[in-house]
Amino acid sequence: MGLDIQTLVKKYDTPLYIYDFNRVEKQYNGLKEAFSGKKSLIAYAVKANSNLALLKYLAKLGSGADCVSIGEVKRALKAGIKKYKIIFSGVGKKDSEIREALERDILLINLESEAEMKRVEMIAKELGVEARVSIRVNPNVDPKTHPYISTGLHENKFGVSIDMAKRMYIYAKKSKNLNPIGIHFHIGSQLTELSPIREACEIVADLVRSLKAIDIDIKFFDIGGGLGVIYDNETTINPKDYALTIIRATKDLDLTIVMEPGRYLMANSGIFLTRVLYEKKNGNKRFVIVDGAMNDLLRPSLYSAYHKIEAVKKDGEKSLADVVGPVCESGDFLGKGVLLPPLNHGDILIVHSAGAYGFTMSSNYNSRGRVAEVAVYNNRDYLIRERESFSDQIRLEESCDTSWQD
Ligand code: LLP
Repeated sequence: MGLDIQTLVKKYDTPLYIYDFNRVEKQYNGLKEAFSGKKSLIAYAVKANSNLALLKYLAKLGSGADCVSIGEVKRALKAGIKKYKIIFSGVGKKDSEIREALERDILLINLESEAEMKRVEMIAKELGVEARVSIRVNPNVDPKTHPYISTGLHENKFGVSIDMAKRMYIYAKKSKNLNPIGIHFHIGSQLTELSPIREACEIVADLVRSLKAIDIDIKFFDIGGGLGVIYDNETTINPKDYALTIIRATKDLDLTIVMEPGRYLMANSGIFLTRVLYEKKNGNKRFVIVDGAMNDLLRPSLYSAYHKIEAVKKDGEKSLADVVGPVCESGDFLGKGVLLPPLNHGDILIVHSAGAYGFTMSSNYNSRGRVAEVAVYNNRDYLIRERESFSDQIRLEESCDTSWQD
């Protein structure tokens, strides 16, 4: 990252997220180049990390945005991402969200059910517009990833079956207020094997061909996100092979390939820094108690996700320890069985691969303020989100009328 951790910690305190924007750019460009010669759009999955400064930076690179709430759509627009590069997905969009998305004229609304399609049609009719839509199909492919982040099987809540999708396309094509120009799927996150992607692409490309035969012309082939990254010692998919697989499966079709990477751009572009408060032993078990906790980085507690943890200080004989936070839950840990040297109050630990689904999944549990975020770019550091203060936390409660208690 090119900057001294101790200096950053002195300047911004801990716990702290730090992102390397040069690396984000490298990941973005690598993926874009893999698709060179083919019409493609990277619609960054905002849920992975929705910081405005990051979105502004991605907008400058030419990125679009994949959003799952109107809040994310508004963030993307505010950051300067072009409306014709914004996609609105999600299984449960409210009427008000659909209305606003239509009013803002974004590229596509991804439909996840027949009932939702009817709702979008009705609202588009009220507004007197034609909604550009794509339908999320569930190709029933096993992505071979963690069950909580696998989405392309019929047992998952996402998308509709191929048969249902076909019926929906036929309906949408006839509607005056729907324009079905896209198709979408996302089989899961943290994918490390190409074969499920190939299988899903082939199934969905076949559907595109059968739609073409009945005069329904799909222009956007949205393959979702999911490209895996290295947290530990995983083997990952090379972007060139990824691109080649998708291009091959669709080579006879005139399509713009849309992808929605989140983790691939962000996970290893970010670290989480935390300070040691105390060490203690319960029986033979060593605990390192730090100032960061599950409310700041939830992935270890929620998914038993592994994040490499390393001490800035290297000297001393290492032994195994659980790295735990101050939150009142046994599930509050950042790492288990971590090999660490003897540590003192104030020593810094680096939690790696924390740039995706770190800050965005954080909360105020135990009335802990959400932490600060810093971007490092060309060897300079920039504060991109202030540490939440106590008054930030209670602002929306204090502003309420509680005179009924007086
Ligand atoms: N597109 C759709 C429709 C998605 O549902 C997701 C992620 C993405 C794109 C981005 O996937 P990515 O490229 O980041 O793998 N909180 C979990 C991950 C949940 C992912 C949900 N959907 C975690 O921390 O691992």
